[in-house]
Amino acid sequence: MAAYNIIEHEYDVVVVGAGGAGLRATLGMAERGLSTACISKVFPTRSHTVAAQGGISAALANMGEDDWRFHMYDTVKGSDWLGDQDAIEYMCREAIPAVIELEHYGVPFSRTADGKIYQRAFGGMTTHYGKGTAQRTCAAADKTGHAILHTLYQQALKHKAEFFVEYIVLDLIMQDGECRGVLAWCLDDGSLHLFKAHVTVLATGGYGRTFFSCTSAHTVTGDGNAMVLRAGLPLQDMEFVQFHPTGIYGAGCLITEGVRGEGGYLTNSEGERFMERYAPSAKDLASRDVVSRAMTIEINEGRGVGKLKDHIHLHIEHLDPAIIHERLPGIAETSKIFAGVDVTREPIPVLPTVHYNMGGIPTNYKAEVVTLAGDNPDTVVPGLMAIGEAACVSVHGANRLGSNSLLDLVVFGRSAAIRCAELIKPRTAHKPLAKSACNQALARFDDIRHAGGNLSTADIRLAMQKTMQAKAAVFRTQTTLDEGIEAIAKVRASFAEVGVKDKSLIWNTDLVETLELDNLLAQAVVTMTAAGNRQESRGGHAREDYPARNDNEWLKHTLTWLIDDKVNIDYRPVHLYTLTDEVDAIPPKERVY
Ligand code: FUM
Repeated sequence: MAAYNIIEHEYDVVVVGAGGAGLRATLGMAERGLSTACISKVFPTRSHTVAAQGGISAALANMGEDDWRFHMYDTVKGSDWLGDQDAIEYMCREAIPAVIELEHYGVPFSRTADGKIYQRAFGGMTTHYGKGTAQRTCAAADKTGHAILHTLYQQALKHKAEFFVEYIVLDLIMQDGECRGVLAWCLDDGSLHLFKAHVTVLATGGYGRTFFSCTSAHTVTGDGNAMVLRAGLPLQDMEFVQFHPTGIYGAGCLITEGVRGEGGYLTNSEGERFMERYAPSAKDLASRDVVSRAMTIEINEGRGVGKLKDHIHLHIEHLDPAIIHERLPGIAETSKIFAGVDVTREPIPVLPTVHYNMGGIPTNYKAEVVTLAGDNPDTVVPGLMAIGEAACVSVHGANRLGSNSLLDLVVFGRSAAIRCAELIKPRTAHKPLAKSACNQALARFDDIRHAGGNLSTADIRLAMQKTMQAKAAVFRTQTTLDEGIEAIAKVRASFAEVGVKDKSLIWNTDLVETLELDNLLAQAVVTMTAAGNRQESRGGHAREDYPARNDNEWLKHTLTWLIDDKVNIDYRPVHLYTLTDEVDAIPPKERVY
């Protein structure tokens, strides 16, 4: 192995990732006087949260009646009962102060005529426990993520958080079962850095790029999830992958659900508004799993649009162009660029596209990473937290409601900071680290850097993405999943033949992409295996051979460990209890717990 010089740093907290969750946590830590480093592989305002369009949910009741209990009911139901109800209660209650706090930090929300935060309808969001339609999604036009990300970055700088930008975090540094920090590689000058921390917070996002067609940026490679697997810890509920109904056909770019919230609708080749058949009351605003399945059935039964009859039309031509200009300017531009469509005159061609990973690193609602140890399924891993899409709290269970993701980022970023302030006395000394603490991480880095095989990173990545797209699709069967398990294992094995041509350390994007591919492959393998293991349909996991939800056998979280090439599976119970008895205000016959 080459000799590497390692520069050491000490912080109270290290946050890995500078998307909405990472920045909200970083700001909260810094506000509370904790020395905080935020390490990001991209400039913070280029993190994938910037692409979030439609908005952030909170029962503010600015545009009609609402209550956090209605929001909780919708979220438990939307999760297909796999969500942890203590965490869901926490998120829906805290949504209200968390969004008002964002407003006070300076997020430029769109406004109602009387100056309140503008809120739009989104799928699965109801009033009175499913009876009415809630306008609960707080929006900054169709650029809500962009607005939040910029505000949080400015606030974090104001509170003197330190940023290490364009640093690739290679691995967690674990000792005696605790996380003690991370090892990172600086792209700018090629140096390696050991960041010691009392708590390391993983805010590294999802792993959408395991699939061929996704709304995720190319950087969405689930690096934190893979680090957790390499640390011998499990990931949870990885079989649950969300397809967003309206990715642009061919390009995959997101067309926000806010379009349907503003009155947009879907049609098939017969011009029929088919959602009226599948979800007579919610129609186009049914939850995403329902709409994505309906679209897929329409296409499979020959009612798709276009020459190949392989997609669906989304209409907003009937809306007032002034409304489109004011509330949906981004999707008008995206549709023009990526589909060549003028949305004021023509429908947008759309197709269900991978959008979100419900699974991830298991945590409690305080953002602490948990694992199954002995017979305790809620054993906290000291020194390690996870938030945002990297985490599985689990507030989304088997299916996430639109606009609950920006909320999850902000609420649990904030809760991580609250918990760290309870756990850490600022600037206390760090426990001694063994000399060999970085050896494993360095060995992996060096092996991949000097990989001399004949296969290109791009070819292996394409094989992985095509396999995931074909075998872990909207509808799944044991046959497709078993084929998928075999195929994805072969693709992962082929990584032994990868070649990295550029051996340098400065801005070596060949090496970055190969490290990311290694991370993606590990997550692809556990996703496919967990999907083959769960023999029921629930939320985003639709099995044609097991079409019903089976609470008797499957009302449980899947845990997956990846030890060498083998996926080990065990389970954690779903938290079917709430944090307070305030939810008793929900009429008994409407209760979902
Ligand atoms: O459709 C959207 O604007 C996406 C929102 C979300 O995933 O929460």
